[in-house]
Formats: sequence, C-alpha cells, structure tokens
Amino acid sequence: MSSDDLKKRVAEAALEYVQDVDVLGIGTGSTVGYFIAALSRIKHRLDGVVSSSEATTHQLQACKIPVLDLNAVGPLPLYVDGADEITRHLQMIKGGGGALTREKIIAAASEQFICIADQSKLVDVLGTSPLPVEVIPMARSHVGRELLRRGGQPVLRENFITDNGNLILDVYNLHILEPVKMEAEFNNIAGVVTVGLFALRPADVLLLGMVDGGIETIRS
Ligand code: A5P
Repeated sequence: MSSDDLKKRVAEAALEYVQDVDVLGIGTGSTVGYFIAALSRIKHRLDGVVSSSEATTHQLQACKIPVLDLNAVGPLPLYVDGADEITRHLQMIKGGGGALTREKIIAAASEQFICIADQSKLVDVLGTSPLPVEVIPMARSHVGRELLRRGGQPVLRENFITDNGNLILDVYNLHILEPVKMEAEFNNIAGVVTVGLFALRPADVLLLGMVDGGIETIRS
C-alpha cells in the first residue's frame, strides 16, 4: 500500500469524528488534503471550517466548504491535522508545510485534536525531521545564533515566506528528549513567533494508517 493510500485511508477514518460537530478546524498538508476531499461529501452538515493556511483555504473553497474566522466562532470542538513526526505520547513536530503558527493557534483553541498520519510518521524520539521555527525577519540572525548555542543546526528555508510574512528556520541535529522543556525554551527566544514542537498541547487522538491496511488508534 502506497503512502498516499495510507493517507487517504486515515483521512477517511477521521470522518467518523465529524459526526456531531457543525464547525471544526483543519490543518495543512497532503494528508489533510485527503481529509478535505472526504469532508466535502458531508459538507451539507457543516456550518464551515476554520483554516490554518492559505493553501488549505484554497482547497476548502474549491470544495465549496465555507471558511470561517476563528474570532467569529470561538472555541472549536475539533481540530484535524497531520504531522511531520509524532510519538506515542502524541507530541509532534509540525510545520513542514510552513503553517505551524496558525496550526498551533487553532490547536490551542480546540477541545479535541485528532492527528491523522501514515505509519512512517511514528517515532520514538522527535528530531529526525528538522524542527521548523517561524521567525520575525529582523531576528533571523539572532535566533539562528541562539539555536546554535542550544545544539541545533538552523538552516533558512529558501524562497519561503509564511502566510504571516515571516521566515522559517529549519533546525537540524536535534534529539528531542524533553519536548515540553524545549518548546518552552525555544518559544522564549526573542524574535521567535512559533516553534513547530507541539508538546505543551499534544494531540488527543492519533489515527495511524498502517502498511497492512489497518488503522491504529492511539489516545492520550
Ligand atoms: C504543515 O505545516 C505541517 O504541520 C503538516 O501538518 C505536516 O507537514 C504534515 O504534512 P503531510 O500530511 O503532507 O505529511
């Protein structure tokens, strides 16, 4: 079964969690793309969706699913998103698509966070994928030096500006044994907008597409 097949299956499985909600938040990425396609079949039951990126907004609009402002709808019952890496404690690295800031805001404003991912995303220790850090442009060098001091290898994401007008430093060489501590510490560097570690607010449920075609469900 290909990685795309696994993403599609897990995206379909997430629909089960959308039975009783009229508004939900949606993340960004290829797995979420399959989820939006599945969601469009039941869009008549929804008031709309809070989007985490311009890319997701375009996909929702293409499916004629109303896009809502988070400020207008208040706390959300549900947020569905993918991950670059996730542990069995449901802590994640996110931001491969550069949408980490809005993703973190919507996750924080949601009662339940369901992560949808294929088996390749499950890791014992976070840090094989680079950790994306969104940075205010004038703070790029300062934040880079601070990350170096903490053992990371920051690399500026080339030709990339976030939806919020900022830069991304992808930080290599991290073996993240204490994700909560690192998230808090990196968040505190002046000029950092968001760290792509989702440990202070992990997912509540992980739906994992397994290579044998099954779906493993892990709850916090
Ligand atoms: C987007 O910024 C990321 O947080 C995505 O959730 C993550 O990169 C997963 O994307 P895929 O579903 O494409 O693997």
